[in-house]
Amino acid sequence: RRSGATTIPVAAERAQPQREVPSTLDQCRRCDLWRNATQAIPGVGPRNARIMLVGEQPGDQEDLQGLPFVGPAGAVLDRALAEAGVRRDAVYLTNAVKHFKWELRGKRRLHKTPAQSEIAACHLWLEEELARVKPDVIVALGSTALKSVLERGSATMQSVMDAPFEHDGRWVITVYHPSYVLRAPDEATRQQAYEVIVNGLRQALELIA
Ligand code: URA
Repeated sequence: RRSGATTIPVAAERAQPQREVPSTLDQCRRCDLWRNATQAIPGVGPRNARIMLVGEQPGDQEDLQGLPFVGPAGAVLDRALAEAGVRRDAVYLTNAVKHFKWELRGKRRLHKTPAQSEIAACHLWLEEELARVKPDVIVALGSTALKSVLERGSATMQSVMDAPFEHDGRWVITVYHPSYVLRAPDEATRQQAYEVIVNGLRQALELIA
């Protein structure tokens, strides 16, 4: 063995992301997203919340502040929660992917959709949250959340958005992601997407009544 070869070269570390279970989320190296993120963003909420909302991944503001849903999508979510009569501090809020994935456009860090491999690598953190909080109802906000909640299931958003369904002994409700309300092409589509979110949150409340 060459002397000085005890440190793992960066290239080898990149080629083989750490697959074992890290002891803390902040130490997670199961995919490469930690490299460009400020921090990992854990879920927040009561430890026995009956409703868990799962988003896609932290955005720019979340990455900086260390909390989920505190940016523009969070403002849409807050409005929908209020309209549905769901208290934000009564639900557990988390994301399928815990690090912000982005690319630079000019001076802005623009969100990039996580790859299936990144969703899969991060899935164990969602499993840990589900095992700990044991919610009765999961509200999947968008398709990344749905993919992670179903793990190997293969439902499309459109096929499951109509009604709650049972998965692994829990109710799953699927709605649009709040950021879709901000970027949908026209006002009618934005309003319709927003109403789907509000209705999904109302259904979640009914299921735990
Ligand atoms: N979008 C998400 O999916 N999650 C957040 O925490 C913020 C924006």
